[in-house]
Amino acid sequence: MESPKRSESIILFGPPGAGKGTQSGLISEMTGKPQVSTGDMLREAVNEGSDVGKEAKSYMERGLLVPDSIIIELIRRRLHREDASDGLLFDGFPRTIPQAQALESLTPVCMVLSLNVPDDIIVDRITGRRTDPETGEIYHITHRPPPDEVADRVIQRTDDTEETVRQRLSTFHSQTSPLEFYYRERGILVGVDGAGPMSEVSSLVRDAVIKHTGA
Ligand code: AP5
Repeated sequence: MESPKRSESIILFGPPGAGKGTQSGLISEMTGKPQVSTGDMLREAVNEGSDVGKEAKSYMERGLLVPDSIIIELIRRRLHREDASDGLLFDGFPRTIPQAQALESLTPVCMVLSLNVPDDIIVDRITGRRTDPETGEIYHITHRPPPDEVADRVIQRTDDTEETVRQRLSTFHSQTSPLEFYYRERGILVGVDGAGPMSEVSSLVRDAVIKHTGA
């Protein structure tokens, strides 16, 4: 792996519920790269009732991928913002080979950090997830319970049902996991065991970021 340049972006890769959102704050803090979650951008569009949101909603509810053209346009626009000049931390993007090819033509990537978590652990993580709508903080009913002062306001994502999770996992295995090979071939894939407790995963993530970006 070549030594990374300041302007290069990082991809946080992994199945739904692997802990990408949970670990993204640490990586952003270490590298100064703003986190960009296509899932968050789409949920915002759905809440606003925009044309993109209206189209994305039916795919998201079914655990299917939103069409590449919509996603690539969202990312293209995001890369034009001033804070993207030192690279971004992509969370949940790219998810298909055409998205990865489009990204390659838009901006350089120095590392793809892949969180490896088996499917049986994923179902427990996703069905127990709760989010604070005011701060965006991610909790889990057993692994990271919300504190008393926010417990009444946390919400469950509508696509976090067991049925939808199984569809999202199947979508991941068929359409997104081929990207591991794509990035391994380019010499920038870094695998991290994401199955352990949060603090253990954070420590592995921290070590990998230091080793591969010098942050
Ligand atoms: P998106 O919002 O990206 O969802 P996802 O990839 O399915 O990932 P999640 O947000 O569910 O999980 P995460 O890995 O961030 O896990 P988290 O840290 O929250 O996408 C939603 C939908 O939008 C997609 O289905 C698709 O329709 C569409 N979409 C988005 N991007 C797209 C794209 N590029 N192309 C096409 N369509 C797109 O952790 C999960 C839970 O586990 C939390 O409760 C957390 O507290 C807990 N947890 C985390 N780490 C640990 C740990 N180590 N031990 C125990 N519990 C843990």
